[in-house]
Amino acid sequence: MPPELTLADLPPWSFEKEDRADDAAFYAEARLCTHIDDGAIAALTEFYRGALPEGGVVLDLMSSCVSHLPGDVAYAEVIGHGMNAEELAANPQLSRWFVQDLNRDPVLPLADGSIDAATICVGVQYLERPVTVLSQARRVLRPGGFIAVSFSNRCFPTKAMAIWLGTGDRDHARLVALYLREAGFTDVEARMLADGSRCDPLIVVTGRA
Ligand SMILES: C[S@@+](CC[C@H](N)C(=O)[O-])C[C@H]1O[C@@H](n2cnc3c(N)ncnc32)[C@H](O)[C@@H]1O
Repeated sequence: MPPELTLADLPPWSFEKEDRADDAAFYAEARLCTHIDDGAIAALTEFYRGALPEGGVVLDLMSSCVSHLPGDVAYAEVIGHGMNAEELAANPQLSRWFVQDLNRDPVLPLADGSIDAATICVGVQYLERPVTVLSQARRVLRPGGFIAVSFSNRCFPTKAMAIWLGTGDRDHARLVALYLREAGFTDVEARMLADGSRCDPLIVVTGRA
């Protein structure tokens, strides 16, 4: 994939998926587990420690029972979003949370400029309209607010977008960078947090609102 790809260059089947049934049904049963291994989680937590503003309002989009935030850093608030109420209720780091299928309704119920930093961990591959959702994230971030979209090399294949399944880690980084740029983020950068030699691979793509 060339570096300066635009969304228009992606094949027409890019945002199709095998399982077209309601996402709510797929996530109805709580998965009280982690989706990346301990080494990858540790790498992400250390990254968050340096990158997310202490005392800030953090939005963890596409969350579950864990947010991977450093436990010894105080944030003003951590707002969680996900697909399963039981998972979010079990997440000890969330101050409050909401359930919303972003493939059905991508409009975030949050005020403009009300968030300091947003995170998405191992979820972006499930978005049918990633640019729309990330544009919403940019809207709710304050000017200069930070976003971190991280991913590994596994997923629920029946729910992942075809373009994700048809490409590898490096192209995923280019793809997420493309989504962020198209959503209006600046300073978009990809960084490898774990190369996969000792734990699950983990790549983060970041941007500024
Ligand atoms: C593999 S889990 C990752 C959960 C968590 N971020 C973590 O790091 O363990 C994928 C998550 O993507 C979110 N997700 C998947 N499909 C979604 C949809 N249609 N709308 C909103 N969120 C969705 C759900 O919150 C689900 O838990």
